[in-house]
Amino acid sequence: MKNISVISGGASGMGKASARRLAADGPVLLCDINESLLEQVRKEFEDEGLEAYIKVADITSPEQLAELAEYAQSLGTVKNVVHAAAKDFNTVEPMPEPEASEEIVNNVIFGTINMVDAFLPVLENGSFITFSSLAADSATITDDDYDLWDEVYEDDFEERVKEAVNNLEPLFGMPQHAYHAYCYAKAFCRHFVAANAARFAEKGCHIVAVSPGSFDTPLLAPQKAAQDGHGAENLASVTAMQRIGQPEEMAELVYDLCQPLMFYITGFNITMDGGTYAVTHVAQLD
Ligand SMILES: NC(=O)c1ccc[n+]([C@@H]2O[C@H](COP(=O)([O-])OP(=O)(O)OC[C@H]3O[C@@H](n4cnc5c(N)ncnc54)[C@H](O)[C@@H]3O)[C@@H](O)[C@H]2O)c1
Repeated sequence: MKNISVISGGASGMGKASARRLAADGPVLLCDINESLLEQVRKEFEDEGLEAYIKVADITSPEQLAELAEYAQSLGTVKNVVHAAAKDFNTVEPMPEPEASEEIVNNVIFGTINMVDAFLPVLENGSFITFSSLAADSATITDDDYDLWDEVYEDDFEERVKEAVNNLEPLFGMPQHAYHAYCYAKAFCRHFVAANAARFAEKGCHIVAVSPGSFDTPLLAPQKAAQDGHGAENLASVTAMQRIGQPEEMAELVYDLCQPLMFYITGFNITMDGGTYAVTHVAQLD
């Protein structure tokens, strides 16, 4: 049986870059909601001599992810799962509140729970890498939130987490609070990773969150275009490196985390942000 890597959000950005990197070692199964882009990427990988399979699946649908997991198992032994699919606040901003924030919760919080629920049963001695974000560090998280996040499989969890998100204040003067919803949801992802460490370890697996700062992917396009086209410079200026990251850099981290000698890293988050957190939180030495 071949070892298979499954990548959600594999049609674009860091999911695609991670898939390409992992495909150097064996077949990859990409899922996304964007069917035409998925097919384009499959063709691109094929032209590069990489073995790639695709399946349209929405991470907000447990049924579609169950089918995805079944398909993955039919292809081989599921060794790596990379959960990169997500919408961000820019994508949902045209929607009115509170629908915009609810969309973020469905996509980021429940998408992550659904991916773990679908793949924990099938993953064997492998890696589950899920994308959080540096944005998680900007969220206002209370002790009540942490208590709520420990009750993820309770019947009223969805109702209570949506209520908690609706009660968030807008962040950084943004007109909608979907940005805070995004930060909150990405903070949840880190907590959920920590809460999963023991049950993944029981199966010889590990689970890690990765938090990108600003990376040059289609998701960042609205922010790059903002401020009269100077958005990219402004994003670069808040990093120590004075540049935004490239998807291949994150893909290399994801690839490295999938190696067996990295399994002792589990239940935790690794941030890759070109030093943004450092320069915005700690006085820099001359
Ligand atoms: N680009 C950045 O600067 C940045 C910063 C912090 C965090 N992130 C996170 O990194 C991850 C990858 O982001 P990216 O920049 O590569 O984004 P991207 O927009 O390039 O790719 C995301 C992909 O996810 C897919 N997707 C969205 N909703 C889906 C759904 N319901 N079901 C299946 N697929 C769905 C999209 O179609 C898209 O192809 C995301 O989790 C994002 O939140 C990105």
